[in-house]
Amino acid sequence: MKFLTVIGARPQFIKAAPVSRELRSLHKEIYVHTGQHYDKNMSDIFFEELNIPKPNYHLNVGSSSHGKQTASMLDGIEQIIVDEKPDYLMVYGDTNSTLAGALAAAKLHIPVIHVEAGLRSFNKKMPEEVNRIMTDHISEYLFCPTDTAVKNLHNENIHEKVINVGDVMFDAVSYNRALSEEKSDILNKFGLEKDSYYLITIHRAENTDNETNIKNILSAFSQIEGKKVWPIHPRTKQILSNMGIDLASIPGLQVIDPVGYLDILALEGNAKKILTDSGGMQKEAYFLQIPCITLREQTEWIETLEDNANILVGTDVFNIMDAVQKNVTPSYKDYFGNGFASKKILEHF
Ligand code: UD1
Ligand code: UDP
Repeated sequence: MKFLTVIGARPQFIKAAPVSRELRSLHKEIYVHTGQHYDKNMSDIFFEELNIPKPNYHLNVGSSSHGKQTASMLDGIEQIIVDEKPDYLMVYGDTNSTLAGALAAAKLHIPVIHVEAGLRSFNKKMPEEVNRIMTDHISEYLFCPTDTAVKNLHNENIHEKVINVGDVMFDAVSYNRALSEEKSDILNKFGLEKDSYYLITIHRAENTDNETNIKNILSAFSQIEGKKVWPIHPRTKQILSNMGIDLASIPGLQVIDPVGYLDILALEGNAKKILTDSGGMQKEAYFLQIPCITLREQTEWIETLEDNANILVGTDVFNIMDAVQKNVTPSYKDYFGNGFASKKILEHF
């Protein structure tokens, strides 16, 4: 069987790694990298350290508006599908690369496999929510990470080939955790000790593109006492720089460039708490049993909210500070499977 896999953004490289390891032992897989993310530390670093095979095609679409970016992906992927004639097209998550891959394939009657199907925030102002809904409704295989995702699809009248296989991100963490402990030197590099710092990441459009939200978030960061480490997403770096905001004025804050997967696992696993608006990092915090504070109004990962393991605070300074001060000891319950999601996906082909 021949699979064409479309990836393009940081979390997709991480999600594809465990699935491709299984897939390539049984079938032929061709990678199309859309080029949505292109900085070395947003793309190449993951291929190198996670041993992901090099992309067979690179569309180099780069950054632009949603319509322009998605359209140029669609154009490139369509031609590759025509040339390669795959049996299946596989996509991950909810980015513009996901939607472009699924749409190109569906129009050419190639069955679409959606990994991480069924997630919903019920907020259609999020570009990711639009991408997910569209992708789910044109996919043939919908591999869900949780029971909640299955229920969401049933509620939208999607019933066939909706399967809870567990979360491929849990596979990734399970596979790489020991490697991270062995290889990552990031704590030494930045003089960090276990439980001595907060880890921060922010990149969601609803925060970066809303001046009130981003200012509230920064105001809370100024009030949090102690060390804070922030591997800053290029989107956020650019927007803060355009706003003329200097993060050096925030006491205790260490801003660093985005890091590779082994380093981020080390930073996450040793943090006192994680403050984030990332989807992947909410889950990783839960897998690693580190308290998480989510700076969003909704989360797709509602299981993580149990026992305050993850606290949803939006961007209200009082709520953020309240969550920072809460004493929480998260424990992992197997809502996300046991690290065999990739194997379970491959049982269907
Ligand atoms: C995208 C996804 C988001 C996902 C995130 C993962 C969409 C609509 N959004 O958001 O769901 O959570 O990736 O990180 O698909 N940039 C660089 N270098 C890069 C990549 C981006 O400088 O390698 C900057 C550019 O200024 C660009 C901005 O970041 O305009 C945003 O990039 P884009 O891929 O459009 O969206 P993300 O915010 O990364
Ligand atoms: N990540 C990383 N380096 C960083 C920050 C994040 O490798 O400097 C990883 C993170 O651990 C998770 C994934 O990138 O596995 C999440 O990506 P991101 O937050 O960009 O997107 P989202 O999950 O919100 O779509």
